Amino acid sequence: MVQHTKTGVALVGSGSAHLPIAVTNDDLSQVVETSDEWIATRTGIRQRYIATQQESLVSLATSAGTAALEMSNTQPTDVDLIILATSTPDDLFGSAAQVQANLGASHAVAFDLTAACSGFLFALVTAAQYMRTGVYKTVLVIGADVLSRWTDWSDRRTCVLFGDGAGAVVLKASDRDRLLGFDLRSDGTLNGCLNLPYQADSQALTSDKTVQKGTYQPVTMNGKEVYRFAVKRVPEIIEKALFHAGLSTDGIDWLLLHQANQRILDAVAERLNVPKDRVISNMGRHGNTSAASIPLALDEAVRDGRIKAGDVIASSGFGAGLSWGAAIFEWG
Ligand code: ACO
Repeated sequence: MVQHTKTGVALVGSGSAHLPIAVTNDDLSQVVETSDEWIATRTGIRQRYIATQQESLVSLATSAGTAALEMSNTQPTDVDLIILATSTPDDLFGSAAQVQANLGASHAVAFDLTAACSGFLFALVTAAQYMRTGVYKTVLVIGADVLSRWTDWSDRRTCVLFGDGAGAVVLKASDRDRLLGFDLRSDGTLNGCLNLPYQADSQALTSDKTVQKGTYQPVTMNGKEVYRFAVKRVPEIIEKALFHAGLSTDGIDWLLLHQANQRILDAVAERLNVPKDRVISNMGRHGNTSAASIPLALDEAVRDGRIKAGDVIASSGFGAGLSWGAAIFEWG
């Protein structure tokens, strides 16, 4: 194994998948008892994209990865590592290796990382550790989820929230480390607030032994608990990550949170004293795309010119586990 001398992390390219089918709030009001007014007022969501029959977690992740490699002028064969953050793989054994094959990243090792809506943040920090030790110098981090497969479409409390998507970033070894600070947390005592649980169905194997052959159940959520958790823990962890970076909120150009609910974004921005025009939100168009939401919103803001090279971004993911994390990084 070659040990590289550049051990800093630079975020040099982004990409996202484009899904053709948008489901509007009015569409959903034909499915459950709800309205555009209720959904938009409580969450900021107007529509969300849903994967078609032709699409898969792997195809969405591959599209996002391809776009990020193109933006950063990176050849797939130069990629050393691919981390796919997802809770909805096509294959429970992992989907990252299929993405690696589709991209033609023949030299890369690839694995899945599961941390729900914190997945991208956890994957970004994990990738940085391989780079800071000089083991890998080109890494593709992808966040992708197809929660539409695991949503209970008769439960109005959850089905209006989620959408499908994929986003990716390319990290390259650099003399100067642009991952300025981070902090990650888990609290399994609150696990019951948000689940996509396996439910076993006991089947006789022999006369005295059984196997627990079941399936996963749709997403269940205690919305109020998750809301309370997010508005308390997210500002705290961003402040911790800023402290590690030696910065205060005055030093950041953008606040980029997991897109769970516009009210959460507003409350966190207010707690941190970040002006509204510095908060990146694509809630209205995408809803909550779980592990995809941060890289997807990042990619949109990079491509439309809001985020420029040298901008400092405070980012935070939070969700099931419960898990949460923050990273302060400089773009480009
Ligand atoms: N349309 C109309 N009415 C609705 C809907 C709907 N889609 N959903 C719920 N209601 C009703 C409820 O039945 C309830 O009616 P009742 O008072 O007659 O019982 C009323 O609206 C209020 O329901 P609450 O659940 O109390 O609504 P709340 O104001 O808490 O908003 C929401 C719900 C939007 C889900 C909010 O709690 C929230 O955003 N929580 C955070 C969720 C979150 O961020 N989750 C993602 C985490 S990321 C991850 O890891 C996947």
